[in-house]
Amino acid sequence: MEGPFSLFEGHEQVVFGNDPQAGLRCIVAIHSTTLGPALGGTRFYPYPGEEAALIDVLRLSKAMAYKAACAGLDLGGGKAVIVGDPVRDKTEALLRAYGRVIESLGGRYVTACDVGTFPTDMAIVGRETRWATGADVAEGGSGDSGVLTAYGTYIGLKACLHRLFGDDSGRDRHIAIQGIGKVGRRLAEHLHVEGAKLTVADIDPARTAWCEEHLGADVVALDKIHAVDADVFSPNALGGVLNDATIPELQCRIVAGAANNQLLAARHGEALAEAGILYAPDYVINAGGLIQVGDELHRDGYSPERARAHTEQIGIRLLEIFDLADELAVSTAHAADLVAERRMAAVGRLRNFWLPRRA
Ligand code: NAI
Repeated sequence: MEGPFSLFEGHEQVVFGNDPQAGLRCIVAIHSTTLGPALGGTRFYPYPGEEAALIDVLRLSKAMAYKAACAGLDLGGGKAVIVGDPVRDKTEALLRAYGRVIESLGGRYVTACDVGTFPTDMAIVGRETRWATGADVAEGGSGDSGVLTAYGTYIGLKACLHRLFGDDSGRDRHIAIQGIGKVGRRLAEHLHVEGAKLTVADIDPARTAWCEEHLGADVVALDKIHAVDADVFSPNALGGVLNDATIPELQCRIVAGAANNQLLAARHGEALAEAGILYAPDYVINAGGLIQVGDELHRDGYSPERARAHTEQIGIRLLEIFDLADELAVSTAHAADLVAERRMAAVGRLRNFWLPRRA
């Protein structure tokens, strides 16, 4: 079985933070700062043990490096986990102690929201460190990153339609959306405006009822949504939804959604390609949120217009990845990894070559 150390591949730095008085136990993993400061959210989660937390943070920080690289951002990849139950254990003292751990890294790691952390938390963390993004607009942040994540996913989904049908319009296309949360609901709204037919599923019946009433969507059972006979299956809830059980049941031509880690294993990217299904690599299509919080680091402060314009490039990036996949006869998931690795390698070489050396 794969142990945690096989995941410790090329990470620049891993920091354990403890503050017993504040009840803080956290791990910050910096996969790479080759392209810039390592930006990634803080996951506050009741991990069964520290090994599970370590495995998660190593994996997630690497994914952030690849996401930033493919999005053309001058950002590296990092992630942090706080071990604990966010409902029971989250206090101002804990968040401030966590902010001090981040501050001690001097800007090599920049944090944001993730599972279990919210804009209000980032405002508290931000009292101890400059290196926290994703607070509410009133607190000087850019607010809910679901807005640009959904917009980027919509743009990316249209790029997939263009690739397959020669027309990017969602009009009369049938899209099956799994998960009607912050991202899924906004995605559904964009597609509805364009005239798409929607089928949705969510564990929360109030959310699907809203789609039925306001967007004319059909609702199906949780275990049926991936198998709907639609043009596009759009996962916006869970990771691991593309696996040995679901892939043979897919009836769609395209998989394009925002959920992180959609492929249960790397080989499922190949399985989709073999099935003739166009897969928009998750970390490419869902980069809008990262683009949004990354924009907060701009020297002039956050610009919604600039972040939106950058997010619109997700479509072009996907088309380039699809071309590369064709050229090399590899899956689109593999092609995305190559694009990220090439950019990090090229910028890494450039840095070594061009940066003036200190005397
Ligand atoms: P959310 O928590 O607001 O929404 C998730 C939705 O999925 C909820 O409505 C929930 O009830 C539903 N759900 C949970 N289990 C389900 C199941 N078995 N079947 C169907 N629906 C189920 O989360 P959010 O922010 O909308 O994120 C969605 C996905 O996109 C997640 O995988 C997240 O990691 C990813 N993502 C989100 C970003 C953001 O900026 N919010 C950025 C990049 C990725």
